[in-house]
Amino acid sequence: MKQLISLEINGEVHELAVAPQDSLLRVLREDLGLIGTKKGCDSGGCGSCTVNVEGKAVYSCMTYAMSVQDRPIVTIEGVGENGKLDPLQQAFIDAGAVQCGYCTCGTIMAARELLATVSSPDEEQIRHAIAGNLCRCTGYQKIVDAIKLAAANSA
Ligand code: FES
Ligand code: FES
Repeated sequence: MKQLISLEINGEVHELAVAPQDSLLRVLREDLGLIGTKKGCDSGGCGSCTVNVEGKAVYSCMTYAMSVQDRPIVTIEGVGENGKLDPLQQAFIDAGAVQCGYCTCGTIMAARELLATVSSPDEEQIRHAIAGNLCRCTGYQKIVDAIKLAAANSA
């Protein structure tokens, strides 16, 4: 049976009816139209659905919507301000870290958690932070370079 809950997403509070088994991913994409968060494996294996909950990178496909009531959620649509790209988004473009782009939003959300806590991460820290985000296109080095560039540009 559906229950009315309140989700705070990108600074906006949404009241909506969800079933106990509804994933945050399903609610974001299908109920709220926030399709920047991508559905890949839908089973915790690829990271394309990563969002930030209270600043932490989480797989939205493995998170019940009901479990994140009243906990601030940020999706890729909430990154960047006033139509300007966030430094991470810009760095991904500048470093050529986007090819098909399917993994990109999730990887940026994982990198956001890292840069919020480590302002100048080394390669090992970066690779560890994005270890749960699969990319079939880039070979990862350009993603690592992009995150380093974003850190440097934000210093
Ligand atoms: S879609 Fe969530 S981890 Fe793959
Ligand atoms: S850019 Fe295609 S999966 Fe990463």
